[in-house]
Amino acid sequence: MIMPTQNYEYLHNQLLCWYKASARELPWRNTQDAYHILVSEIMLQQTQVSRVINKYNAFIRQFPNVYSLAKAPSSEVIRAWSGMGYNKRAVNLHKAANIIVTDHNGKVPESMEALLSLPGVGRYTASAISNFAFGFQLPVVDINIKRVLGRVDRGALFDTDKLAWETAKKYLPSKEKTPEWNQSLMDLGAMVCTARNPECESCPLVLNCSASIKFISMKGSKETQVKLANKKNTKFIGSNRYYRGRIIESLRDTTKPIHIDELGKLINPNYSSKGDALWLSDIISGLIKDGLINVQKGMASLP
Ligand code: ADE
Repeated sequence: MIMPTQNYEYLHNQLLCWYKASARELPWRNTQDAYHILVSEIMLQQTQVSRVINKYNAFIRQFPNVYSLAKAPSSEVIRAWSGMGYNKRAVNLHKAANIIVTDHNGKVPESMEALLSLPGVGRYTASAISNFAFGFQLPVVDINIKRVLGRVDRGALFDTDKLAWETAKKYLPSKEKTPEWNQSLMDLGAMVCTARNPECESCPLVLNCSASIKFISMKGSKETQVKLANKKNTKFIGSNRYYRGRIIESLRDTTKPIHIDELGKLINPNYSSKGDALWLSDIISGLIKDGLINVQKGMASLP
């Protein structure tokens, strides 16, 4: 069901009131420091909020400002990233810090163009920094917001990212409310309007939402929900991303270089240098290309 017209004023009030009472306490929400917000948004790109909280606090303690991050060796930054996965983000963040120091006088740039030219910063992250740190009236569309607005606006997921961003822009409140608005959509998506089991009964937007009637009437049986939950995550173990992560973890634990064959056995007890060398060298080439490891004479180490 698509809503004929949306009552934006009511919708803004509903969600912002809910947010006042229900917002998550997140450390990056207590700061306006654009460097801290940059760090948090890069971490949050692919890691769950619950995991990021401690890592973010420790990272900021270790690298409290952009200068301390820029001058640290790459290996130290990769070590500080431990436990978050997608380690290429650590290398990109380190490069971004150096660009900020060299080209922007140590200040995170405000223009969209300059933000987008930083490594690891795409449209989502640039908009989040621009809105949360500098207060520009911009939508941000992450996976949660995309799902929430898709359901509210059209009762289904958006077919394209372009449509999601256009819709998010259409739903923005006044400028000064925009940062809270974007954060409140994230919280609603994380806590109420979840992917698998939306709790429409307790949603402040139930009356504005094009999907709520469908969800309320179709609530699956407990058994179906358990099956869906069990399906999650089974594909990750054994994937190349999994082994990339294991290689970085092995190298983090030591300051000594490790021979590639030994690395193969560390990450996979069934590794054979005859049958699996090609597979391993493919993964290792990817890590070298991403600046995550060095290999010299068959010995691998963090850069
Ligand atoms: N995911 C991405 N950015 C976020 C933020 N600022 N707060 C909560 N979750 C997020």
